[in-house]
Amino acid sequence: MISAFSPTQLLLLIFITISWIFATVEAQSNVSVGGFLSADGTNTAWRSPSGDFALGFIAIQGQEHLFLLAIWYASIPETTIVWYANYRETPAVAARNSKVELTGTGHLVLKDPGNKELWRSQSLTNDSQVSHAAMLDTGNFVISSQNSGNIWESFKYPTDTILPSQELDVNQSLSSVLAEANYSKGKYQLRFNQGSFILNQIDMFTKKPYNNYYSFGDGSRLIFNGTGRIQYLNSSGSIINLAPINTVPKPESYYYRATLGFDGVFTLYSYPRNPSAGGRSWSVLWFKPDDICLSFVDSTARLGTGPCGYNSICEPVNGRPNCTCPPGFSFLDEKNTHIGCKQDYTSSAEDCNPDGSTVEEDRFEFRSILFADFPFSDYGILQPATELECRQSCLLDCTCAVAILQDPSLSPDGTGTCWKKKLPLSNGRFNRVDIDRTALFKVPKTNASRRSPDTPKPSDGNRNAAILILSVLLGTSAIFNFSFLAAIALIFFCLYRRRLQHLEGVHSHSRGDLETNLRSFTYKELEQATNGFKEELGRGAFGTVYKGELSPSNGNYVAVKKLGKVVQEGEREFKTEVKVIGHTHHKNLVRLLGYCDEEQHRLLVYEFMGNGSLSNFLFGVLRPSWQKRLQIASGIAKGLAYLHEECSTQIIHCDIKPQNILLDDCLTAKISDFGLAKLLINSKTQTLTGVRGTKGYVAPEWFRNSPVTVKVDVYSFGVMLLEIICCRKCVEVEMDEEAILTEWAFDCYNEGMMEKLVENDEEARNDVGRLEMLLKVAIWCVQYEPVLRPSMRTVSMMLEGAVQVPSPPCPFPLHSMSMKYQNDRVSFSSLVP
Ligand SMILES: *[C@@H]1O[C@H](CO)[C@@H](O)[C@H](O)[C@H]1NC(C)=O
Ligand SMILES: *[C@@H]1O[C@H](CO)[C@@H](O)[C@H](O)[C@H]1NC(C)=O
Ligand SMILES: *[C@@H]1O[C@H](CO)[C@@H](O)[C@H](O)[C@H]1NC(C)=O
Ligand SMILES: *[C@@H]1O[C@H](CO)[C@@H](O)[C@H](O)[C@H]1NC(C)=O
Ligand SMILES: *[C@@H]1O[C@H](CO)[C@@H](O)[C@H](O)[C@H]1NC(C)=O
Ligand SMILES: *[C@@H]1O[C@H](CO)[C@@H](O)[C@H](O)[C@H]1NC(C)=O
Ligand SMILES: *[C@@H]1O[C@H](CO)[C@@H](O)[C@H](O)[C@H]1NC(C)=O
Ligand SMILES: *[C@@H]1O[C@H](CO)[C@@H](O)[C@H](O)[C@H]1NC(C)=O
Repeated sequence: MISAFSPTQLLLLIFITISWIFATVEAQSNVSVGGFLSADGTNTAWRSPSGDFALGFIAIQGQEHLFLLAIWYASIPETTIVWYANYRETPAVAARNSKVELTGTGHLVLKDPGNKELWRSQSLTNDSQVSHAAMLDTGNFVISSQNSGNIWESFKYPTDTILPSQELDVNQSLSSVLAEANYSKGKYQLRFNQGSFILNQIDMFTKKPYNNYYSFGDGSRLIFNGTGRIQYLNSSGSIINLAPINTVPKPESYYYRATLGFDGVFTLYSYPRNPSAGGRSWSVLWFKPDDICLSFVDSTARLGTGPCGYNSICEPVNGRPNCTCPPGFSFLDEKNTHIGCKQDYTSSAEDCNPDGSTVEEDRFEFRSILFADFPFSDYGILQPATELECRQSCLLDCTCAVAILQDPSLSPDGTGTCWKKKLPLSNGRFNRVDIDRTALFKVPKTNASRRSPDTPKPSDGNRNAAILILSVLLGTSAIFNFSFLAAIALIFFCLYRRRLQHLEGVHSHSRGDLETNLRSFTYKELEQATNGFKEELGRGAFGTVYKGELSPSNGNYVAVKKLGKVVQEGEREFKTEVKVIGHTHHKNLVRLLGYCDEEQHRLLVYEFMGNGSLSNFLFGVLRPSWQKRLQIASGIAKGLAYLHEECSTQIIHCDIKPQNILLDDCLTAKISDFGLAKLLINSKTQTLTGVRGTKGYVAPEWFRNSPVTVKVDVYSFGVMLLEIICCRKCVEVEMDEEAILTEWAFDCYNEGMMEKLVENDEEARNDVGRLEMLLKVAIWCVQYEPVLRPSMRTVSMMLEGAVQVPSPPCPFPLHSMSMKYQNDRVSFSSLVP
């Protein structure tokens, strides 16, 4: 309370008598006619007897010469405004030295320094026999009449907040502020409509309400009961408690308030009264709607902009909308992320051919966001559709801004669907729990300069030298050429036999300058080998795989992977990566035999695996034996450990899943598709941009913008290990309680019911020791925190039985855990040396 006085007032106070002090306090809580306050920055205010609330002028943040006439909590350090003067629905902002005065007619009147009236309290009655005004301990400022009753109450003119003992009736409403600390009228309202309370957005241009995005209760009155309960009076006159749900409020220990936030969430907060309570701040007790991003989509409010504005993505974080802009978009207003996003690249008519196709479509690329969807603004749908078809269709169509892909492996009937969307996009959502779609954003490549077709591509030093030699040779006379060539050949043959062979290799393929024993193929050779890319073996994140035969009909089969458009950006990167892959040699990795890098074609040639993928094997009809499965798991762990720690350049796979594990004729597991992820990761930020990964197997840090480390593979391996143990997929939508394998497995492990996981598998049930070991390893691998996950080397040793496996903690993040899982977080390294 002392802090409210200016230094001069403090000095005075020190020297005057106790009775004077009392008089001052009294004058502060009881305002008589003629009493006034000035907006002079000294914080003088009319306080309630307890000192909890004050009415006065608050300087507006960032504009210290402007003031707001407001009521706030005077006893807590955070400025928390519960009411402010509104004139025609806009805050009555006053310049320095404005004055508010209680007039003889029973009005509070706010005037600027030039005596112009800015705001005046209305009258609830015709009675103007004013007695006094007072700031009450409830937070209500009242102007009392000499007769009984009040001429005016701030509680009857609520802004965005209601307090205990305040009620809202059918003629009252709450209106949100525009942004944190900006008290302009915001875009949300809480009001009554046809017998229920509704939350709605308003059109910011006309201030007209849109349809409601949430409604609750019935009846005619919202009551914030004096003890801190939010209740309503239902249509038959009973009082129904809305919140808090499971606790009894303690008004003697906490302040309570309920505020309609600038983000559209109606929230009940509490704040400890005791100043000595550590960590004092407003805590959320209850809020509605539960998921504001979803509540717009699920209601008739979907025709508005959604909680984050157009072209944005809404993610609920602790009940509040976290608004972000998709790739290629940025906020309309950096300071207010809830308004919406605009496209960075503005498309023009020149981007479209007369037939509606994109001009120079290779100026564009796709950035994908997993678990994201824009449920509206469709203009086209392809079904069935593969990811490649979806990308192609959107790329070539000049109207298409984003394509939403439903992954075939996740849809009930096994066919993928592709929705094409145009701008503006509305109600975009990101949610790992209920969205199994991927949004593919078509954005201009970072260097989207239009390349003239004949410009030579940049080439490295070696090739320049080779071209130089060749042109010199061809530029001279034929006879001289011949003798010169012969002479050189002879010298080379005699002295540098091996190098000559190498040089010939360069000559015949003109591109084989990799220092590995990889063979460089021409596109034509591979076209012949695959019989015109006839027999498709499978499709993956990076492209389609075809069966081929190198020297016709000798049974020398290969798998030829034709890489999709996405990797065409950098010629150098492609070569670097091929080189890195070419240098890997491990029993549990699929071997790269060669590649083709010719014009726009990028192909990789791998050894052929007769037994297909682990996915067919695990989820097929015949369950592979327990022993075999253990061998496979151990093999994969070794292969990954090699990629992470032993080969010359560390390789993070980024897409470990059963589809990418192939089995050779002896059922040895071989990891495929490694080394390709790098071509898709933004090398600067090492983050999500354009990243692949498959739902169910991706580590949580993909979504936190954390750098990608080898621990993402450990996570995916853990998920896959559970699949190997249980012979089921990591997500089975039909099984509701057991739908998510990681959760179900941890539940079973935690409750000591491991056998449930291998119900019909006698071999596994008879090997409980090993089953428990595998389960523990898997749970360590899927820990939410990457640092807790063991390295693949350790995993491999554990699977071999070389080290003991300690009991793992709950793998899920603390905030999403129910009480039963809250054992101490321990680090793996503290348990295993
Ligand atoms: C305020 O004034 C009224 C009337 O003069 C009186 O009844 C009331 O007790 C006073 N309140 C306080 C807190 O002094
Ligand atoms: C106030 O007075 C007017 C006429 O003077 C009357 O119509 C109105 O009903 C009165 N309102 C109240 C609340 O007494
Ligand atoms: C609400 O306003 C209407 C019309 O102004 C009036 O008839 C009704 O009595 C008011 N209701 C309450 C609860 O004040
Ligand atoms: C509040 O927002 C409005 C509209 O964007 C803006 O004009 C005003 O300057 C803002 N006020 C403050 C204090 O930032
Ligand atoms: C508040 O609600 C509780 C429970 O419904 C009730 O017992 C109590 O009387 C109410 N208090 C007030 C001041 O209305
Ligand atoms: C109002 O609430 C009471 C008590 O819960 C209930 O018995 C009654 O059916 C409710 N009335 C309506 C119209 O829902
Ligand atoms: C909101 O999302 C962004 C981008 O994903 C993230 O960086 C930020 O931490 C999120 N905010 C909260 C409060 O979670
Ligand atoms: C993009 O172009 C600029 C200038 O033309 C160049 O400096 C930069 O290296 C290019 N970036 C990439 C990734 O090619």
